[in-house]
Amino acid sequence: MSKRRIVVTSALPYANGDIHLGHLVEYVQTDFWVRFQKLRGNACVYICADDTHGTPIMIRSRKEGISPEELIARSHAEHLRDFTDFQISFDNYYSTNSPENRALSERIFAAAERQGFITSRTSPQLYCEHCKMYLPDRFVKGACPKCGAEGQYGDSCDLCGATYGAEELGHPACTTCGGTPVVRDSEHLYFELEPQHDYLEKWIPGHTTSDVSNKLLEWFKEPLRGWCISRDAPYFGFEIPGHPGKFFYVWVDAPIGYIASLQNWCERNGKNLADYWPSGADAEAGGTELYHFIGKDIIRFHCLFWPGMLHAAGLKTPDKVFVHGFLTVNGEKMSKSKGTFVNARTYLDHLPPEALRYYYAAKLGGTTDDMDLNLQDFVQRVNSDLVGKITNIASRGAQMLQKKLDGRLGSLDDEGRALLERCRAAGETIAGFYEARRFNQVVVEICRLADAANEYFDRREPWKSVKTDAEATRTTLTAALNAFRVIAIYLSPILPAYADKARALFGESAWTWESAGTALENSSLGSYEYLASRIDSKQVDAMIAAATVKPGESGEVSHESRASKNKAKAERAAPALKNEIAFPDFDRLDLRVGVVESCEIVPKSSKLLKFVLDAGPLGKRTIFSGIRPAYPDPAALVGKEVVFVANLAPRKMSVGVSEGMILFAGEPGVGGGALVPTSAAGAGAPVT
Ligand code: 2FM
Ligand code: ZN
Repeated sequence: MSKRRIVVTSALPYANGDIHLGHLVEYVQTDFWVRFQKLRGNACVYICADDTHGTPIMIRSRKEGISPEELIARSHAEHLRDFTDFQISFDNYYSTNSPENRALSERIFAAAERQGFITSRTSPQLYCEHCKMYLPDRFVKGACPKCGAEGQYGDSCDLCGATYGAEELGHPACTTCGGTPVVRDSEHLYFELEPQHDYLEKWIPGHTTSDVSNKLLEWFKEPLRGWCISRDAPYFGFEIPGHPGKFFYVWVDAPIGYIASLQNWCERNGKNLADYWPSGADAEAGGTELYHFIGKDIIRFHCLFWPGMLHAAGLKTPDKVFVHGFLTVNGEKMSKSKGTFVNARTYLDHLPPEALRYYYAAKLGGTTDDMDLNLQDFVQRVNSDLVGKITNIASRGAQMLQKKLDGRLGSLDDEGRALLERCRAAGETIAGFYEARRFNQVVVEICRLADAANEYFDRREPWKSVKTDAEATRTTLTAALNAFRVIAIYLSPILPAYADKARALFGESAWTWESAGTALENSSLGSYEYLASRIDSKQVDAMIAAATVKPGESGEVSHESRASKNKAKAERAAPALKNEIAFPDFDRLDLRVGVVESCEIVPKSSKLLKFVLDAGPLGKRTIFSGIRPAYPDPAALVGKEVVFVANLAPRKMSVGVSEGMILFAGEPGVGGGALVPTSAAGAGAPVT
């Protein structure tokens, strides 16, 4: 089959806020889909950028006393780091504040103007004389002109649902300074949609799901209203050519930012933009596929204004707009006071990214329904399915093969071949689910295969046969591990880092979807690296506690303190360490400081020293430590402070009972060597 050329986008996040778990619903599912397409061998390009323009960004930068450019540069770095740490792999993550975007915005506007789609009219607007700016709807509050409810924004009333113009609000107040705005007339530019009424009415149904299109089509019963696309200075954005003091509304240049980011990618990769985002006669030719992933709050912009702009400019319109629902946490809207409005970084401080990617996959069905992150279910599913079911095959199989059978795979017998055939046969069904974005079904199918592999493993009882028949055991493990390998290939778009480790275990350099059709026999396994570990509800509790905003707090970590925290973290970060452990494993250690009260040579032992530590409230501890080669004069250790593991189960040794383990460290970068108490060891010293 010939390979497809596919351009995929996720909505561009605003540069004035942090990435949170709600955003990730979208980026994670787009990433699954893109990675799947690439694994199938398609030429797929994943494009995104920060959405950098508009009043909120201007106001925020004013408040922080920095330029908007500084603000958006900082956000760009933070966003990209969050996405990278969640294993979201954009081909280009750009900015809407780019020269490419300015040129494209001007070009598309000029095309619309040429066709007579741009009109202008004067309308009353609220202006704050103190802030010296016209107030967007969300920057003014007052009483609803219909029901009188106080504290309503300038566009619609939360209580009675009425929509109105901001100048109609009763006693309006600027939300930035609290002052009373005045009404001023201002001329604005409109993008008229009515000339494309028929075109858009026909376009919509084929390009999104029926629930989305039915809602949109309700507007087509009447002439379509023009869309106001200009904003008055001061505004952080692009000035409209030929209209001094007027700027493109952020929602004009934001979607154009998809093309600008793609253009930037093309330029950097020696490609031709016209091949990826065709125009003119090629726009309809169907060589390249274009898909937007968006949330249901921005349908209007992507399924009405955007195809209208593209069509007016003779540019390719999207093949499909994939719309998803919102995220709820424990069945409710995310809430700062309940700690369920969790930023990506806060999550990562407490939990592994794989867990969320896996859980989101298990819940995402490619519909516009809202998706619930039930935190108890999250812990339970990750532990029982990802760790207990899927990973278990590899950890049991690989560790036994390595410990008892030289780490060599053998040959498959008939039963093993049948198990593998079952895994392979599921491939096209799973691929169909990926293509349809029914990731929850992908996970269901994968879990079925894992069940079959575990059932096979348990029935063959390799832990028993290994005592009597090594080769039969090798045959069993070969089948179980090959089944796991196929599962890991299917899972790789959802868990890319996990799959990389699995691939390394099998000593392979790359996987494609077709790799699932081959079996590994008579080859050696690499060393087994932990793939996924259980998560603990305590980690979730700690995350929620960290995300909880108390009344009176803004919920915004000041960027200064965050930046310095991050810097400190980066300074602490070690080069990649082997045998990484999960936080809960570490958290189980009770590390204490003790003072060496006495330290003696143990008769008849060349290695052991007997320590008695003064462990403060824990009393005295006797600990035997095998470090005599490093301490010919044990008395020199008396009075020194040492770190020891206080909750290690007492161990009966031939020389007595050892009640803990003292941590000593060797020279930095060297195992062993001269051992010193950890308190005196150099930075980076290995602890012994
Ligand atoms: O709703 C939002 O977060 C917007 N920043 C999305 C823009 S998507 C695209 F049109 F740029
Ligand atoms: Zn003001």
